[in-house]
Amino acid sequence: MFLPIILAGGCGTRLWPLSRGNFPKQFLTIQDDGLSLLQHTITRLKGLNHAAPMLICNEEHRFIAAEQVRQLGCGHSGIFLEPVGRNTAPAIALAALKAVQNNDDAVLLVLAADHVIEDSAAFVASVEQASILAEQGKLVTFGIVAKNPETGYGYIQRGAALPQGTGFTVAGFVEKPNLATAERYLAENADLAHGEDKWYWNSGMFMFKASRYLAALLEYRPDIYHACVAAMANQDVDHDFVRINKAAFIACPDDSIDYAVMEPLCANADSEDVVVVPMDAGWNDVGGFAALWQVSEQDENGNAFKGDVKAFDTKNTLVFGEDKLVATVGVEDLVIINTKDAVLVAHKDKSQQVKEIVNQLKAEQ
Ligand code: GDD
Ligand code: MG
Repeated sequence: MFLPIILAGGCGTRLWPLSRGNFPKQFLTIQDDGLSLLQHTITRLKGLNHAAPMLICNEEHRFIAAEQVRQLGCGHSGIFLEPVGRNTAPAIALAALKAVQNNDDAVLLVLAADHVIEDSAAFVASVEQASILAEQGKLVTFGIVAKNPETGYGYIQRGAALPQGTGFTVAGFVEKPNLATAERYLAENADLAHGEDKWYWNSGMFMFKASRYLAALLEYRPDIYHACVAAMANQDVDHDFVRINKAAFIACPDDSIDYAVMEPLCANADSEDVVVVPMDAGWNDVGGFAALWQVSEQDENGNAFKGDVKAFDTKNTLVFGEDKLVATVGVEDLVIINTKDAVLVAHKDKSQQVKEIVNQLKAEQ
């Protein structure tokens, strides 16, 4: 039995104007089955032996999160509300501290709320594998075969094989390397036979006992650890919601688990302690519109359309038409996102730069 921890406090700015400050990516329905990314995160746990999930999100999104969980009818183990985002290292610490406070050194499965995973059965198999290792006290990462030199991901260097083919030790962890470094990792993989990859992408999912994470955080970032302990000192439980000490949490440094814990831990760990379980499950973190196009159902011309769209001589284009007809003629490789109050037209290969527009809009506010 393990406790899923769902991190739902990100902003998803690279999917603007679909993803908004008051309704970010993880709450959006981007697939045709009507479920949001958060709801998919919960439903793909089906078949695993787990407790009701714990959610951690921004105070501002509490009703959206609670309603989406209610719609699934699955219950939850608390919805933690952050007064401000302090990134993933503190968010996970709150959940781990709660588990320990409940006198339950639970195995936690830390999940991002905004990924698409096409093969749920493969996901379940990797998590089952990982839960055995986490029960033994190991800190488990999930490795995705790296397909291109993506600089927005963490890279896990695989070490020795564990007994019975259950995974590998981790020889190194590098968060968001520069392009030249990422290219070097991919080149090292290319020299190896299929299935022998040396470098994996970090999936952003982790599995470990609550106490194991807290010990690592205390060792490498005592400042974050103590700020989170202070934030948990007087919780206010209000129906679904758990509010923490606002001032203490605002004072907490901002950092991700990847930089705060994984990088220093993997630089020092005795090699048996941190492990990677490969996951080949059609994982995609939908980090931009090109990725959204990739995971969407496409017609014979490579077009992915949602809403009322009329297209002529159009190829490899993504269109979201929220409230009015969108028509295209003689275009290819475009992203056209029409929402009530904003329209985005971008080249698919440049759509990562949407972030710049969001920054500009924020600066003008
Ligand atoms: N509660 C909470 N609070 N959740 C947060 C916060 C926060 O302050 N910040 C981010 N999250 C959530 C996001 O909603 C997302 O589900 C998850 O935590 C990961 O955060 P991202 O901001 O998307 O991280 P990233 O994409 O830059 O990098 C991570 O994921 C990559 C794979 O997608 C790292 O773990 C990388 O190493 C990894 O490759
Ligand atoms: Mg991400």
